[in-house]
Amino acid sequence: MANINIEINGNVVKAKIGEMLISVTDREGISVPRFCYHKKLSVVASCRMCLVDVEGIPKPQPACSTPINEGMKIYTNNQKSKASQKAVMEFLLINHPLDCPICDQGGECELQDVAMSYGSDISHFAEGKRTVADSDISALIYTDMTRCIHCTRCVRFGSEIGGIMEMGGTGRGEDLKIETFLRESITSELSGNMIDICPVGALTSKPFRYELRAWQMSAIANVARHDLVGSNIFTQTYKTKVKRIVAKDNDSINETWISDRDRFSYEGLAHENRLLKPQIKINGKWEEVQWDEALEFSIRGLVNSTFNMSDGSKLGAFASNTATLEEFYLLQKILREIGSENVDYRLNVRDLDNVIDLESNIKLTGLDGIDYALVVGSNLRLEQPMINHRLRKAVLAGASIDVINAMAFDFNYRLNSENIVSPNQILLLLAEILKSVLESSYAEIPKYLSKVKVGDIAKCMADDLLDADNSVIILGEHIINNLQAASIAKLISKIAVQTNSTTLNISATSNSIAAAMVNFIPGQGGLNANAMLEADLRSYILLDVYPQYDFHNSAQAIKTLSKENTFVISMNSFKDKDVTQYSDVMLPIASFYETSGSHVNIEGVIQSFVAASNGPGESKPAWKVLKVLADLLKLPGFGYINSAQITNDISNHRYKQKVDNKEINITIKRGVSVIWQKSPYAIDVLTRHASALHATKIGLMHRASMNKATAINENIKAGDKYLGVPVVITESVSNNCIFVNTNQLTGSKL
Ligand code: SF4
Ligand code: FES
Repeated sequence: MANINIEINGNVVKAKIGEMLISVTDREGISVPRFCYHKKLSVVASCRMCLVDVEGIPKPQPACSTPINEGMKIYTNNQKSKASQKAVMEFLLINHPLDCPICDQGGECELQDVAMSYGSDISHFAEGKRTVADSDISALIYTDMTRCIHCTRCVRFGSEIGGIMEMGGTGRGEDLKIETFLRESITSELSGNMIDICPVGALTSKPFRYELRAWQMSAIANVARHDLVGSNIFTQTYKTKVKRIVAKDNDSINETWISDRDRFSYEGLAHENRLLKPQIKINGKWEEVQWDEALEFSIRGLVNSTFNMSDGSKLGAFASNTATLEEFYLLQKILREIGSENVDYRLNVRDLDNVIDLESNIKLTGLDGIDYALVVGSNLRLEQPMINHRLRKAVLAGASIDVINAMAFDFNYRLNSENIVSPNQILLLLAEILKSVLESSYAEIPKYLSKVKVGDIAKCMADDLLDADNSVIILGEHIINNLQAASIAKLISKIAVQTNSTTLNISATSNSIAAAMVNFIPGQGGLNANAMLEADLRSYILLDVYPQYDFHNSAQAIKTLSKENTFVISMNSFKDKDVTQYSDVMLPIASFYETSGSHVNIEGVIQSFVAASNGPGESKPAWKVLKVLADLLKLPGFGYINSAQITNDISNHRYKQKVDNKEINITIKRGVSVIWQKSPYAIDVLTRHASALHATKIGLMHRASMNKATAINENIKAGDKYLGVPVVITESVSNNCIFVNTNQLTGSKL
């Protein structure tokens, strides 16, 4: 678009031919009132609040839908503009209840703000106002639809961003209502964004209802840690308590949206299960003690159980993948300083000799511009909502997507093909794709592909990959415990090279890229998570780990950690019955938003944040606890006085990458595979304690799905329990697969 000069309110400003007038005024900081316009939604120009005077056009024009042209002269605040804006304002207020004193939106309401500038203190309307009955649309959104001004932002958000068509307008004129067609039907991983974009108090946050006024809270910029994106947020606090989370714009990360998980998980912070005081176990009984006593007890226990008897290698450390970059760094540094390489965060992986090694090499913004994606092993929408959102954008712009999954999922965009394949057959299908790609390029066929026969489905996907100019292959979480996980990752890497595709590895989530970045995995001679549980270690340090949920084999983890003469230091933010059973000391640590630190996202971008509030009770940030433990152990190099110094230390460090030279092995495994996946709202300890999320349909996911053939083979009936989870028979699952979605398990996952 060519640059031109136009005149606004007598000043010359630069603009591009064809861009909308409101974009120019926004860029120039010229205030134009609006309701229906939102920079990320389509333009409908229905509210008419943005009317301005354009020289040469008799009637005022809506700034949101008036394209810029050479020589335009615009007046946003002359008598004609102001009269139009005032008239529209009065019209919009005819049916509005003006109940600001009891409205949650008060103080941050666009209608209230605009009425202050453009409204009148006298209304010509003396008739009765209409009212609209509310319907319960979701466990997260409260409605007061009498306040609705029919801007349709929520409707457009649903159809354009969320991919849900539930919200719409019914009736005409006076009877026009914005409503859902069914009760409680807003089921979306992004639904909370409707609260942010509603310009009035028609859609407000249910968990936050009547809590506080916006002006009573402080807003601290922060980063969410529930996925690989690291969405930017504002954590709003009142008297050191986190009260609400809203989105913070960052076009290269989360644009202007956040997932419901990032928005509502804060509720868990105030849960009664928070661990508030340091506790030590004396003769099997827990005693609350002061921090210095608990730390000395920890050091004594470590020295007695580990260093006196042999050396540091009898000590192991596990960390949850939600720890901060700095916490991972300090914990591995402590272990390595005392001669132990036994550190691991990959607690949910069954076979740590069969791990996924695949780099991600596409930027988040790059996903918007792809023309083809192959998704392997992921329910992308619920696992990585913001990545899925970018893929949806690409699909709306014309991209095509093929999926290879063990179960059919609810994608919120059209798929080119959805291939439901037994977990044991995924490797073979990828091998067929690679062979087809090589054949099409007249390249040499490696020996391991010689016996592979290319089927029609694989050929189509191979052709799509070759035809695409800008393609990505996405490797998801369901592959993490696939019997051929390592070979699947290698095949994807080879297909990507041959087809000039980018890759995105989303198999491990939250802050796991930070853990990998600082080598929170065993080095030379060290034991991995599974080996640590099998070895006769004398002491363990656990960082916010909850075995029942975090370990692949929780029963074995609890058994090992509970062994007599094993000294266990648990640094936890929440109380947990298993932790209480096996620990010798429990140190209360700050949870999400209560500590400073960094998240590393899928692009490798390190986003640091400060603490938005203090932890409750006597809890302390984990990095401080680790630093003091190191000092008490008299380890060198722990003289940090804030977490930013640790971050600097990390960036000055060079980490060696592990090289995996194992061959690809195309063999068909037999038998039933179990894919175990935490429900999206039970992904970490904070979401598990966030009650509103658990009242949603997504939060209620708790089922073991299998098809009829598998059920007959395994002698399982609908309604039986599998791993403690109710069985559902559905043909949406592939043969020889049991797909377990849950937030609670007992015993081993297999
Ligand atoms: S509910 Fe809010 S966002 Fe939706 S149409 Fe009404 S005012 Fe607009
Ligand atoms: S903002 Fe322009 S018509 Fe609504």
